[in-house]
Amino acid sequence: MGKALVVYGSTTGNTESVAGVVAKTLEGEGLEVVLKDVAGVKPEGLADGYDLVVFGCSTWGDEDIELQEDFIPVYDALDAAGLSDRKVAVFGCGDSSYPHFCGAVDAIMEKASELGARVVDLPFKVDGSPDEAEAQAWAKSIL
Ligand SMILES: Cc1cc2nc3c(=O)[nH]c(=O)nc-3n(C[C@H](O)[C@H](O)[C@H](O)COP(=O)(O)O)c2cc1C
Repeated sequence: MGKALVVYGSTTGNTESVAGVVAKTLEGEGLEVVLKDVAGVKPEGLADGYDLVVFGCSTWGDEDIELQEDFIPVYDALDAAGLSDRKVAVFGCGDSSYPHFCGAVDAIMEKASELGARVVDLPFKVDGSPDEAEAQAWAKSIL
């Protein structure tokens, strides 16, 4: 048993739908899960009280990596989220025809690592439309 937070940033709904599957799957595994749209969260103390924090973020931009727009202010202030020694896993939706496929996932993993989080070295990068079974399998794999 434990408590998990799933926070997602999604513009067209793909990452949101994966976040829902991940949250439901973790619940099915016996965790108490809180699911939040990043647009409604403040970074300060975000991770406090959780055994696992799952971030989901799509990638935008072209030459440069751009995080989904609602995620940017939280990413910029991630040092206030209390990630030190916290277990963190990251997923996101993207499109492999872009030069930086799911670059937002890599950027969040890197920053969380720098902040002392125990980052699960198993990013889930969705190319195109999300597949429910793959999302379920990934959620189980991060436990
Ligand atoms: C203008 C534009 C730029 C994009 N840039 C990237 C990118 O750099 N890397 C990537 O993997 N996907 C990129 N994508 C694809 C989106 O991340 C993808 O459509 C994703 O499923 C959107 O997820 P969301 O609905 O959760 O926001 C881009 C899409 C658009 C329309």
